[in-house]
Amino acid sequence: MKTRITELFGIRHPIVQGGMHHVGLAELAAAVSNAGGLGIITGLTQKTPELLAREIARCREMTDQPFGVNLTLMHTFGAPPYPEYIAAIVEGGIKIVETAGRSPEAYMPALKAAGVKVIHKCTSVRHALKAEKIGCDAVSVDGFECGGHPGEDDVPNFILLPRAAEELRVPFIASGGMADGRSLVAALALGAEGVNMGTRFIATQEAPVHPKVKQAIVNASELDTRLIMRGLRNTVRVFHNKDVEQIMDIERAKGGAIKIQDIAAHVTGVYPRVMEQGEVDSGAWSCGMVAGLIHDVPSCRELIERIMAQAEQIIRTRLPQTLG
Ligand SMILES: Cc1cc2nc3c(=O)[nH]c(=O)nc-3n(C[C@H](O)[C@H](O)[C@H](O)COP(=O)(O)O)c2cc1C
Repeated sequence: MKTRITELFGIRHPIVQGGMHHVGLAELAAAVSNAGGLGIITGLTQKTPELLAREIARCREMTDQPFGVNLTLMHTFGAPPYPEYIAAIVEGGIKIVETAGRSPEAYMPALKAAGVKVIHKCTSVRHALKAEKIGCDAVSVDGFECGGHPGEDDVPNFILLPRAAEELRVPFIASGGMADGRSLVAALALGAEGVNMGTRFIATQEAPVHPKVKQAIVNASELDTRLIMRGLRNTVRVFHNKDVEQIMDIERAKGGAIKIQDIAAHVTGVYPRVMEQGEVDSGAWSCGMVAGLIHDVPSCRELIERIMAQAEQIIRTRLPQTLG
């Protein structure tokens, strides 16, 4: 399949693996890229720029295909040394960066000077337009369904994607709720030129996380996520568990007076415990509603080939039949 996204990134299939804290390590990024998609290492999971440089080198040993690095631009919990992370990315020969969170405007000159293509992930048309204006090469449009941060506008992809198509000139990919060939064809129909998947890629053989995390996603239905931190205007969609119930109790009790300190114990230091130790009921970890469409743990190659085969079958057979 050829779209502006496959052309832009030099990949065989228009499928991107979004950055995921403590999941997007070299093993997963390399497996996705080797299968013809675009794998992405999660920059800030590496505690220092030196460790990121090492992770990039490790990934390069596992694949000769293009892969990218995610740089999440945060405004909470203190700012990491972004210029140093960017230096590690550039010196590591990375040519694709997925930014997310705040606008990457301040870092665009450094990235562009190094010939890096920037895909900014955002949850609204206005932020997508801003990304286009500041020189991003593409946008990843993340609908309300998504695992992680859906923003505060709550616009699902059936509206958000065609709205993005109405306004954007740069190519964009559909993110949030994407799982299979049906998702890909729907995304294309709505104007996107590919898909970005998070949760679906956690339940793969190569995802370097505890088997209990993969099984929890397979067992979960589309009803098993919750939104937390809305009162802090930093909403996150997470896997529903006992800890998340406690967070929601605190949020209800505190109302508009909630502070991050009130729930800090439930949301900090969670990822290593969940992803490495498999403690899926401890703390809040991101998970998308798409869990309801995830029923197995294939290899990344099986998954991507299955998506492409199903998409092709729909485009070549099912859709033409509807025309009679
Ligand atoms: C466990 C997990 C961790 C994530 N961590 C990050 C992150 O660190 N930075 C980021 O930009 N997006 C992060 N995301 C969001 C994904 O990159 C992607 O945008 C999202 O999962 C898409 O929705 P889906 O889960 O429905 O596919 C995370 C998602 C999950 C499920």
